[in-house]
Amino acid sequence: MREENQSSVLEFILLGVSSQQKEEDFFFILFLFIYPITLSGNLLIILAIRSDSRLHNPMYFLLANLSFVDIVFSSVTIPKMLTSHLSGSKIISFGGCLTQMYFMIAMANTDSYILAAMAFDRAVAISRPLHYMTIMSLRSCVLLVVGSWVAGIANSLPHTLLTASLSFCGNKEVANFYCDIASLLKLSCSDIHFNVKIMNIGVGVFSVPLLCIIISYVRVFSTVLRVPSTKGVLKAFSTCGSHLTVVSLYYGTVIGMYCRPLTSYSLKDAVVTVMYMAVTPMLNPFIYSLRNRDMKAALWKLFSKKIFS
Ligand SMILES: *[C@@H]1O[C@H](CO)[C@@H](O)[C@H](O)[C@H]1NC(C)=O
Repeated sequence: MREENQSSVLEFILLGVSSQQKEEDFFFILFLFIYPITLSGNLLIILAIRSDSRLHNPMYFLLANLSFVDIVFSSVTIPKMLTSHLSGSKIISFGGCLTQMYFMIAMANTDSYILAAMAFDRAVAISRPLHYMTIMSLRSCVLLVVGSWVAGIANSLPHTLLTASLSFCGNKEVANFYCDIASLLKLSCSDIHFNVKIMNIGVGVFSVPLLCIIISYVRVFSTVLRVPSTKGVLKAFSTCGSHLTVVSLYYGTVIGMYCRPLTSYSLKDAVVTVMYMAVTPMLNPFIYSLRNRDMKAALWKLFSKKIFS
């Protein structure tokens, strides 16, 4: 009997962002625009950095890596959402659902560690400029990047395994447009106390890179303010401003989504996740390249090479 109940949920239904068809269509169109912009914007950043040897330094290597993570991050959920809407089938298999959840948590974590590595890089560049080249050597840069990936992948594993071991009995409707851990836990008929505890620890682990970012920027601003020249302050703000914008956008939505009780989740929260899942990775390339002269020059070079060759 129980076995039958368990095996009855071999798939889930992704309810989407809204219960209204009109709103659902709106988000479909929105994603249809956002996704290609995200892909091409981030791909351009990677290509521009690769092709311009003046940008072969830690800051831009990390930025290229952030773009790469953003591409994977948005590809985990958005294509599935688009094809579901087109085919009219909102079904996702149990395995597909867990895979989506796994990559989603892994990439969100990796993203946050790379943002922390970028903050660390700026802190070293501004507070210890003479030692910058030795501290941020290629070796430590590779270490930071590999470490970010390993940490992201490792962080995601316990959540996915614990969710996989739950029983799902009747309700298959995930109140989101992708398999989000909070929405899945709410559907389970097992005791989820332990899962919620681990999920909350996971959210807590998220604050480790945030703490690194805050410490790095405290160092940056204390260094800048110790030698108060308008030029120095402006320079620090211009190199760190884009990074701080991305960090606030990113952590603002994570905190808005996960720092509250599980019972208060509803379909409306899916709109918050849209911000996080789709808009942040799309905006990253614009935030970095529109305010950065070297980046703009590299992009221009990339385009003119393509056009004139
Ligand atoms: C990521 O960073 C590493 C090491 O800094 C660099 O060699 C690599 O090219 C970067 N990845 C991308 C996609 O640019």
